[in-house]
This record gives sequence, structure tokens and C-alpha cells, in this order.
Amino acid sequence: MNNAFVDLTSFDNSLSLFLKKTKVNCDSILFSAIEYALNGGGKRVRPSLMLLTAAVLDVPQSIVIPYALAIECIHTYSLIHDDLPAMDNDDFRRGRPTVHKVFGEAIAILAGDALLNSAYEILLEQILENTNQNLIEASFSLAKAAGVFGMVGGQASELVFSSANEQFDKNAEKNLFEIYAKKTGALIIESISIPCILASIPPIHFQTFRSIGRSLGLVFQLTDDIIDTISGVDDGELTIVNYIGIDSAKNLVKEKQSEIIQSFSNLPYQTISLSKYINTLCDRTI
Ligand code: IPE
Ligand code: IPE
Ligand code: MG
Ligand code: MG
Repeated sequence: MNNAFVDLTSFDNSLSLFLKKTKVNCDSILFSAIEYALNGGGKRVRPSLMLLTAAVLDVPQSIVIPYALAIECIHTYSLIHDDLPAMDNDDFRRGRPTVHKVFGEAIAILAGDALLNSAYEILLEQILENTNQNLIEASFSLAKAAGVFGMVGGQASELVFSSANEQFDKNAEKNLFEIYAKKTGALIIESISIPCILASIPPIHFQTFRSIGRSLGLVFQLTDDIIDTISGVDDGELTIVNYIGIDSAKNLVKEKQSEIIQSFSNLPYQTISLSKYINTLCDRTI
């Protein structure tokens, strides 16, 4: 699968190879659930951001692709678990029944567990072949972003926040921004940070890339919520959109998009394809 800005052929090939290896000795229902989730029409946003940033920084595709695969495995597991009855209790994703609706809750939990483990197996396999310090640092960074300091922590804070039935006050607003930064932002920031770590770029530029990732993470979740609100999907979650209203949310997206464009102008790299792709994510309406 390709989009107009990035050639994902090598990513798709390594995903196919990963599935082929996984199938060997894997229980067939578990394998089917993993394959169903990984090949379910996801937009591949995180791998695309990673490959485009790697191209900006001259990081070879062969080095970055295991990270692109690992982050897509982690993202996919997060969605399988996010849809479970104990969490968002969603029956549909990407226009198809969710993994637990097709394969049952137990297999859905295990498919998520398997994908998380696979992510680190993929990374450690590369490190076994090449014990470069940057590879270890990039893997550590991804592990932190996926865990309690990032995605998992954000998902947990959101559950606590929703069950506490937070009042619409300033404190609640601040909490929601922090939740978004972790549950969605952490993996988006990571998609851009990993090539920076692999390329050992100067700290000042690394910080600029990370701030682009931070703004994009917020835009990405806000846009997701705006699309859900416009299309009438209401799963009862307290989102920033139903807190500040749809017009303010759209204005915030525009504000963050301008900040991203400004940040790109401060970087001494050829970033056209990456910035164009990020602009399409900011302008997303479906
Ligand atoms: C959906 O992410 C969940 C959020 C973090 C908003 P994506 O929109 O990247 O999901 P897919 O993989 O393309 O379906
Ligand atoms: C999903 O957030 C974020 C993660 C899975 C980490 P949401 O619950 O808001 O996203 P959708 O609407 O189910 O995709
Ligand atoms: Mg959720
Ligand atoms: Mg959800």
C-alpha cells in the first residue's frame, strides 16, 4: 500500500515476511487474528512518517524498516485492546468488525500481546546482527513511548479521567491535553524521533523534530475526534472536541499546523515530502 508521498513497498515486503515467519508454529486462530488486524486497511501513518523522516536524514531504509514494522505492530495491538469491551467496547474499526467480534475476546487479548512481543523481537533481532549504540537507543525510546510513560499511560489516564466524570473546568481541559499527548502523541512523536536518533542529528534539530511530532500528535487525535463528531459517532467519551466545541477544535488544528510549518522552516534539511505528507494529515477530513 502506498500513499502519494511515500513508497511503502519495502515496508509491505517486510510485513509479509514477518507474517510468513509468524505463521510457522503459531496457532492458526491466533495467526488469523494477527493477520486480520495488521492487514485491515490501516493508513500506515506511523511507518510513513518514519520512512519520510529517515529519507530526510539519509538513514538507510534497511535500518529504519524494522522500527517501522515494530511501531505498526505496537499501534495495531493498541487498537485491538482499545476496542475491547473492557475499554471502548467498539464493534467496528476501519469499516469491519473488530478483532474480538470476529475471533473472541481471549484471542483478541492474545493477538495484542503477541504483536507487542513481536515488536521487540523484530528490534532485538536487528541489534543481534549489529550492536550499534543508536539502534539500542532508538529501541529504548520506542519502548518508553509505548509504555506507562506514553501510550499505555495515556490510555489508563483516560479511563480514570472518564470514570471520575470530570467536570468541564480548566483542570479537566489541561488533563485532556496531557492524555492526548500520551495516548496518541507518544507514538506519533516516536515515528519522527527514531530516524533522528538513528542519524544522531544535533540536539537542537532533534528538539525541533520532536516539537513537530508533538503538534502533529495533538492534531491527529483532534482530527480523529472532529471526524467522529461530524459523522455522528458518539461513544460517550469526553473528548477535547466536546469540551471546547468543534469550531475551536478546528481553529486549534490550524494553529498547530502553522506551528509545524514554522518549525520546518527552522530545519537545515530537505523536508518537502515529509512536510507535504504532514499537511495532508492536518487537512484530513475522512
Ligand atoms: C487511530 O489511529 C487511533 C488514533 C490514535 C487516533 P490511525 O488513524 O492511525 O489508525 P489506522 O491504523 O489508520 O486505522
Ligand atoms: C485510540 O484512541 C488511541 C489508542 C489506541 C492508543 P481512541 O479510542 O480515541 O481512538 P479510536 O476512535 O478508537 O480509533
Ligand atoms: Mg480509546
Ligand atoms: Mg477507541
